[in-house]
Amino acid sequence: MKILMCAPSHYAIRYEINPWMKIQNRITPSRAQAQWKGLYTTLRRLGARVWLIPQKKGCPDMVFTANAGVAHGRTFIPSHFRYKQRQLEEPAFIQYFRKKGYSIDDASQGLYFEGEGDLLPYRDMFFAGFRFRSEVRAHERVSESLGRRLVTLELSKPQFYHLDTCFFPMDETSALYYPQAFDDYGRKVIRRFIQNPMAVSREDAYQFACNAIRIGRTVVMNRASRNLKGQLSSLGYGVCETPTSEFMKAGGSVKCLLLKL
Ligand code: ARG
Repeated sequence: MKILMCAPSHYAIRYEINPWMKIQNRITPSRAQAQWKGLYTTLRRLGARVWLIPQKKGCPDMVFTANAGVAHGRTFIPSHFRYKQRQLEEPAFIQYFRKKGYSIDDASQGLYFEGEGDLLPYRDMFFAGFRFRSEVRAHERVSESLGRRLVTLELSKPQFYHLDTCFFPMDETSALYYPQAFDDYGRKVIRRFIQNPMAVSREDAYQFACNAIRIGRTVVMNRASRNLKGQLSSLGYGVCETPTSEFMKAGGSVKCLLLKL
């Protein structure tokens, strides 16, 4: 597995674009760096290859590389952020991928699209979240361009503004999800397409348990309750907890801090 990450050299809370962000809630840079390093080391230890992009000054949220866009083979589909504060990141990610030899496919041009934060592959399809950030039309364009079928899910809670904050397709049959972050229809769709949909508790959801990554038999997340650990263990998965509290102040955790390549 190959991943793109961005070390927090200019990470801070400078604006509020989701309910987690409070300017007065200051980041402790040394703690943020230590937590990021902990995640980085864990992923490498589990066998991931990690590419790094330097953080641009004036782009405090650039550490959340999941929102850069979507990488598929040697093609990169860049994001178009809803908030102007994050739009400054767009050229930096495009330039990085161009330098790495990727071709750039601006499939969502003119539309709001926040990359893997809102578009998650599952089997031969994509699940796509919309309402707070990305728009459905953008997801349609991106999935057309990648030749995959699209299933859209409306997000209903502002705290869970990106799909990857409340939905984690874990393997070919199972996914974690926080039911209260969706409407009735969304919950139905999840249960219809996923053989083993596992609802997480409110407590786990607010600890970003759905904002996770699986590498082999290990699921990496900020924190899991005993109950959740037990459920995952009965499927043969171990949980590796790696603290991300400094990043949760900006509304992100493990999955937001990486982009799959
Ligand atoms: N502060 C960032 C924002 O609001 C956090 C992004 C989290 N990323 C994610 N993939 N959920 O845009």
